[in-house]
Amino acid sequence: FDAVDIIRTKRDRGELSAGQIDWVIDAYTRGAVADEQMSALAMAVVLNGMSRPEISRWTEAMVRSGTRMDWTGVGRPTTDKHSTGGVGDKITLPLAPTVAACGAAVPQLSGRGLGHTGGTLDKFESIPGWRASLSGTEMFNVVRDVGAVVCAATDDLAPADKRLYALRDVTATVESIPLIASSIMSKKIAEGTGALVLDVKVGSGAFMKDVESASELARTMVDLGTDAGVRTAALLTNMQTPLGLAVGNALEVREALEVLDGGGPDDVVELTVALGREMLAAAGISGKDPADALRDGSAMDVWRAMIAAQGGAPDAPLPSARETHTVEAPASGIVASLDAYAIGLASWRLGAGRSRKEDAVQAAAGVQMHAKPGALVRGGEPLLTLHTDEPERFERALQALDGAFTITPPDSRPDLLPLIID
Ligand code: URA
Repeated sequence: FDAVDIIRTKRDRGELSAGQIDWVIDAYTRGAVADEQMSALAMAVVLNGMSRPEISRWTEAMVRSGTRMDWTGVGRPTTDKHSTGGVGDKITLPLAPTVAACGAAVPQLSGRGLGHTGGTLDKFESIPGWRASLSGTEMFNVVRDVGAVVCAATDDLAPADKRLYALRDVTATVESIPLIASSIMSKKIAEGTGALVLDVKVGSGAFMKDVESASELARTMVDLGTDAGVRTAALLTNMQTPLGLAVGNALEVREALEVLDGGGPDDVVELTVALGREMLAAAGISGKDPADALRDGSAMDVWRAMIAAQGGAPDAPLPSARETHTVEAPASGIVASLDAYAIGLASWRLGAGRSRKEDAVQAAAGVQMHAKPGALVRGGEPLLTLHTDEPERFERALQALDGAFTITPPDSRPDLLPLIID
């Protein structure tokens, strides 16, 4: 096979053969296909797409570029959740221990944030002492003993995707359903989970801005999982506005703790319970309800064990920002919109996110919301509180919030998307 031939085939809208796909993914992983060749091929895929058989083969080749983990021996069915990413999406934090408390094993390999969306590992790292990197044996032991682990993927999990995703990030080739679906699913298949629930986000804070493209991404990923023997389901959920009332690492951990304590914002609880039920159903576990595990304290018990197993101190105080700035409601009325992308961008500029992979994040930075769309507010009341350790960041964060919310008359009824769309 030849890289130039393969690029030309896709440039001219041809279909790649299984042999061509296997060869190019393997050669790229070994360094025998150059970055400039792979970026030309990725751009041809962005522009001309891939057929279902091509996407399936591409995904399998990326799984085969590394090891596929094996959880037989943990003694319970494995099930996992993946979100396509959003603002304030801290659902993994209450969800993994809740589902483990219901009898499943949750091997959740997670990532860090890049751009305006946060990363689950960054959130956990605001807990003093907690460690994201575990060896394969440590991961296995935590899942066996506690029921859930949330940690970084090892280097040999879908290494082809690691290289390709970094390349796509700098060549404007992220936005492609075949490339996003194969990237996400190669990692989840290699992770070795028996069941998987996808939370595919729709709206300003998500990759997919409309329901049609989110549905297509969801169907593509469900097919890829099913073909690989993973029982896979998907929910389409609202990312037009942030989830919950907190965006930013430690702020989101605090909110997750409220949920694990039986309280917390309604939308975070509703989505945790809905995804938990799907995860249990996909794992074949019946007779247990995630809502009960949140109410009776059993989810919190698993959380504490899970944090302690990775060196964290579950009772240690979480970091607080040195400076805060309040944004007040400019008028009385109904919050008709609060834009997820703008809040995510503001939180990023306050220091909660990173621009380059090597950057550090501020644990305490972020945005606390005091009202969500549909709520009645009075002029002059606090609407948002911005948190950062570096007050010089407020100005650019406030610029990101220009036009981020609208307030309509008190008797108006804003037309809001439901939390769970499909
Ligand atoms: N997340 C991934 O892991 N891969 C993509 O391509 C997009 C989002």
